[in-house]
Amino acid sequence: MGSPAAVRRPAARRVVLGEGADLDGFRRAVRALVAEGVAPEDVSWNAGGQGGLFGEAPEAPGQAPPLSLPRQLAGRITEVVPHRDPERYGLLYRAIWRVLRGERDLLEIASDPLVHRLDLLARSVRRDIHKMHAYLRFRKVVGGPPDGPEVFAAWFEPDHFILEQAAPFFAERFRSMLWSIVTPVGSALWDGEELRFGPPGCRSDVPGEDGFEAGWTGYYESIFNPARTNPKLMRSHMAKKYWHNLPEAAAIPNLVRSAGGRTAGMIGKEASVPAKRVPERALAAMLDQAPGSLEELNALIRSAGPLVPGATQAVVGEGPANASVVFVGEQPGDEEDLQGRPFVGPAGRLLERAMGEAGIERRDVYLTNAVKHFKFEQRGKRRIHSKPTAGEVSHYRWWLMRELELVEPKLVVALGGTAVLALTGKQVPITRARGPAVLLDGFQGFITVHPSYLLRLPDQDAKAAAYAQFVGDLEQVRQLGEAGRSAGPKG
Ligand code: URA
Repeated sequence: MGSPAAVRRPAARRVVLGEGADLDGFRRAVRALVAEGVAPEDVSWNAGGQGGLFGEAPEAPGQAPPLSLPRQLAGRITEVVPHRDPERYGLLYRAIWRVLRGERDLLEIASDPLVHRLDLLARSVRRDIHKMHAYLRFRKVVGGPPDGPEVFAAWFEPDHFILEQAAPFFAERFRSMLWSIVTPVGSALWDGEELRFGPPGCRSDVPGEDGFEAGWTGYYESIFNPARTNPKLMRSHMAKKYWHNLPEAAAIPNLVRSAGGRTAGMIGKEASVPAKRVPERALAAMLDQAPGSLEELNALIRSAGPLVPGATQAVVGEGPANASVVFVGEQPGDEEDLQGRPFVGPAGRLLERAMGEAGIERRDVYLTNAVKHFKFEQRGKRRIHSKPTAGEVSHYRWWLMRELELVEPKLVVALGGTAVLALTGKQVPITRARGPAVLLDGFQGFITVHPSYLLRLPDQDAKAAAYAQFVGDLEQVRQLGEAGRSAGPKG
């Protein structure tokens, strides 16, 4: 018999990675461990050192060849590494190990406990990035040279090590400003041309107030909608944790106090409705959490009631909570209002037919609307659809964006002008914008016509041509959705 040396098990390893999201260190370590055949149960991962490999370090760690991993797994690694969970590296290495040993489609198996755990970590990182995009506020830094450019700074406390992933969004959006973002785990500096990352800082590095404070507060007061004010909604509107960064938060208690009266005025009820005073402690509790699930969000939408009276019920989104493609329409129509489901009327049936021809199954996508209640004009017995105003679209935008944050699709399809307005903040002609687009909060989008536009075309030839073009758009949507899925995270 041969000697058992051929099956000698490599010695256990202890890997120490740098503090924060040490993606490069992790990749180097994984290559070396795989090259030496070290199994996950023989590795202990330690995040929070100076980086590098210690203990029984694999031989020649820098020279191990790169690994060929499925794109979905490569994407998942990039997403999960910034999580604070000390077990993240070990979990990822277990997934890599299994994939390299033949389970190439491992990440497709959502019910696998390891895959599920990694999904949760990735979700929480993505949510943290969205929160940073939504709740970070810049303040003007005073004291620079009088004729120098204006400089801005912001303080933010993310839950995870997301600064490097979140900061490019601000470089894109505030390209012409000079700014820095300071966090307890690192800082980012945009000098107008290049984004650089540096050491952590503290809150006192960033001005607490500036001349723009009144601007933010005034802005918030102007967009505040009293009809949205009920305890649950307020809580979910702005998580308390983010208050101290938000100059406009100071306006909230007053707005809430006067909300009962303002709502009454707005919907034309008697002005004698007493203004509800919300105690400070209750208010603080209200604002403590954002909705953590679609069920919670939908309950809030339902409890808010319609902005314009008349609708039977709120029509919330429908489809898998983890769909990779979300379709956004305008608002529910007559049949949707009665059934409480989106896209079940004539436009919905046409959409479903076109989807089928493009190879998209309705049950695989998430369908929702920019506006959640039917707005109509009563003409005799008929309820005639009435287009929502820009103000109404912006009233519902907060819900729509939370919905997208919770579903986290790879692609968001805007059907028609109202959806485009809701998802970009701009009124853009569909003919100009049709095709792939970047939407608010960095969502990858695709703009196309609304199916009801096709229904309204009077000329049969024009209708057939427009329908064929619509199916062509949906084919692109299918391809983009599939590509997005295998490419891992969006953005
Ligand atoms: N039109 C829409 O925009 N949404 C629906 O749900 C139905 C028709």
